Amino acid sequence: MTTEQQQQYFPGLEGVIAGETAISTVTGGLRYRGYTIEDLSEKASFEEVAYLLLNDDLPTSTQLSAFRDRVAQARQVPDSIIDLYRNISPDVAAMDVLRTGVSAAAHFDPEIPSNEHDANVRKAERLLGVIPTLISARARLKRGEEPLPPRPDLDHSANFLYMLRGKEPDELERRSFDISLILYAEHEYNASTFTARVASSTLGDLHGAVVAAIAALKGPLHGGANEKAVEVLEEVGSADNAEPWIRNALANRVRVMGFGHRVYKTNDPRAGVLKRLCEELAPRTGMTEFEGIADTIERIMWEEKGLPANMDWPAGRLYRMLGLETEVFTPIFVASRITGWAAHVIEQHDNNRLIRPRANYVGPELREFVPLAERG
Ligand code: CMC
Repeated sequence: MTTEQQQQYFPGLEGVIAGETAISTVTGGLRYRGYTIEDLSEKASFEEVAYLLLNDDLPTSTQLSAFRDRVAQARQVPDSIIDLYRNISPDVAAMDVLRTGVSAAAHFDPEIPSNEHDANVRKAERLLGVIPTLISARARLKRGEEPLPPRPDLDHSANFLYMLRGKEPDELERRSFDISLILYAEHEYNASTFTARVASSTLGDLHGAVVAAIAALKGPLHGGANEKAVEVLEEVGSADNAEPWIRNALANRVRVMGFGHRVYKTNDPRAGVLKRLCEELAPRTGMTEFEGIADTIERIMWEEKGLPANMDWPAGRLYRMLGLETEVFTPIFVASRITGWAAHVIEQHDNNRLIRPRANYVGPELREFVPLAERG
């Protein structure tokens, strides 16, 4: 490796351009295939956004209706996967069970070996359909309840909330959840998407890449932060305790989950959209205290550390306001991001080159091998 190459090392790949994509950009605000997330979250449904990401453009109403039907048909989970789920300890993390579920679903997909564009789109639609059922089945089994069969008469978000909670959402709940799925759907070369691209660049298949991406998303520095964010609010407990709590956390150099971002240094555009939804939902759910706690912590994080809230900060409490248990929050992120991951795998397979960077070696110099019998 030349000295010039060594000088190009950026820890954590910060700022490195590692590929090209036509799917989204975070430059100048977040846009999916040219559309701003502000427009999409206000004017489109998650189903339209999913179609946009998996194809190159927004659907016509005929295309959307056919897409909805295909995805709804794919909601059913094979009985043998449900049986497998019954045998997994309730103590296993929901993200790990979901990872297993997606891996098992691969064994039932007829097109696994094909990385052709159209086969990949079909596989992505099937994963989009089945993932909410996997998440809900696990959540219900853990509570000692039987999984609910999916409802083909409900749209993606209403059916997902229905399967999780056992009751249909009203329109504000459905729309809030739908918007959260729109905002979580895609985010350029984030850690889990890059993981999916690396896995697919070996010509590994879509399902395998998604399993790898789920493993990457699980961590608290990435998708796991939405679960930690609500734990912070619950630990703080009251608006009065927010300022002492956060000042103490900062004094002890605690990493406050839901703040900071590798790319957004002043504002995560997704966070403001979700914060407004939380403010709307809070009075109906009796969780207005959360808003006061969140505001104080946001203000002090900004004043003291210059760190803005990221999307996971409001997402955690939004899901709690929708009556969901903490351990489904990061799986919900998967149910949305499957669209972005799949779009990236398709883009990678359509124009592939193996992703194989180099490392600066920092280990021992050349050493003489000592046979086992001669080692002290
Ligand atoms: N709380 C306290 N300090 C922080 C935080 C935080 N949440 N985030 C960054 N810092 C500090 C960090 O301690 C460091 O300070 P110093 O230079 O004094 O040591 C400085 O800011 C830079 O941090 P970094 O970890 O080098 O920054 P990064 O770009 O590598 O990390 C991050 C980005 C998202 C991993 C980080 O901000 C973080 O850990 N945030 C909390 C986890 C989180 O909310 N993750 C969700 C990210 S957005 C949704 C998603 O993509 O999943």
